[in-house]
Amino acid sequence: MAMKHAATSAVRALTAASPSALTRSLHASAGSKKIVGVFYKGNEYASKNPNFLGCVENGLGIREWLESQGHQYITTSEKDGPDSELEKHIPDLHVLITTPFHPAYVTAERIKKAKNLQLLLTAGVGSDHIDLKAAADAGLTVAEVTGSNVVSVAEDELMRILILVRNFLPGYNQIVSEDWNVAAISHRAYDLEGKIVGTVGAGRIGRLLLQRLKPFNCTLLYHDRIKMDQELESQIGAKFEEDLDAMLPKCDIIVINTPLTEKTKGLFDKDKIAKLKKGVLIVNNARGAIMDTQAVVDACSSGHIAGYSGDVWNPQPAPKDHPWRYMPNQAMTPHISGTTIDAQLRYAAGVKDMLDRYFKGEDFPTQHYIVKDGELASQYR
Ligand SMILES: NC(=O)c1ccc[n+]([C@@H]2O[C@H](COP(=O)([O-])OP(=O)(O)OC[C@H]3O[C@@H](n4cnc5c(N)ncnc54)[C@H](O)[C@@H]3O)[C@@H](O)[C@H]2O)c1
Repeated sequence: MAMKHAATSAVRALTAASPSALTRSLHASAGSKKIVGVFYKGNEYASKNPNFLGCVENGLGIREWLESQGHQYITTSEKDGPDSELEKHIPDLHVLITTPFHPAYVTAERIKKAKNLQLLLTAGVGSDHIDLKAAADAGLTVAEVTGSNVVSVAEDELMRILILVRNFLPGYNQIVSEDWNVAAISHRAYDLEGKIVGTVGAGRIGRLLLQRLKPFNCTLLYHDRIKMDQELESQIGAKFEEDLDAMLPKCDIIVINTPLTEKTKGLFDKDKIAKLKKGVLIVNNARGAIMDTQAVVDACSSGHIAGYSGDVWNPQPAPKDHPWRYMPNQAMTPHISGTTIDAQLRYAAGVKDMLDRYFKGEDFPTQHYIVKDGELASQYR
């Protein structure tokens, strides 16, 4: 395998049209690097917690370390459009760090302009904000901090399931609007016990969610490209459903836990949603673009989907007129589940470790690579 990668890189280097293409397939060359980090703004909250590393002001807590080694480190939240701060640095940056919470969209056009770019790091999990094929063709490395926030997301999904099942949000809204109407809540509030819960995708997050659901005495189903080994499956207590279309109509609650790829983009369209049980609850902390936006609005409006909750949108930040803000039966939030303080500490440490290895010319932990040597990680192919 290593031989094949070496051969692919060598062929690419030899056939590369320009010297810059050759440089891109190498590890860090000596000297100062220009590193740009795109993060959400901390504003008045930036100084409230010394561990709040994920905001633009605190820039993962690596500024002193980078600058002490002679590197230039620019952090910004201005990421979209031709006049943005990010756009100014595209022509000469070497490394771009961003997060899925406030993603810098790295298009083929930006990659073409970024002549010095070698490395794209995702501070978190999910690198779909990057045109991965264009990155592979340009010989770039894309890596994320795999596993860094999977507990954070699984806990959040469990919370969202309970919020929807118990019809919690309308009750909270009654209290803040000085109302009191038990019937308006209780006519559609249920126990989680006994319900059929299916996860679409049972990787790191999906499995942690299934483990957390076990004590609630539900029937647990999962669909994935890959079946778990028998021992893990019986430990987790979930049944494998090879055929997604066969699993969906059985579920009272569906949780989406796949990455956004060519295969999952728009997967939940009108036809797929029509296959779901009437009154189904959906939790999606995976990616907004896995759903057809309007199909979700229509199904929430008709009541086919009785509750939809998640923290992921297409695009991000969600524009003020995004229809999911206004549809009924939703319990949406901004993209928050994977950026708890605990998660920030883990993904900041993961990014620092990868930068350190990049400067030293060392490989990253294998599971972090999304694009390496011109090849996409298997689930993105
Ligand atoms: N909301 C957040 O803050 C947040 C944080 C972390 C991750 N995420 C999202 O969750 C996703 C999953 O994260 P993870 O750590 O569990 O990843 P993972 O790689 O461990 O698991 C993904 C699983 O999906 C399966 N899969 C991929 N494509 C599939 C397909 N077409 N059909 C069926 N199964 C498929 C894979 O086989 C794998 O088991 C990420 O890619 C990201 O988009 C969101």
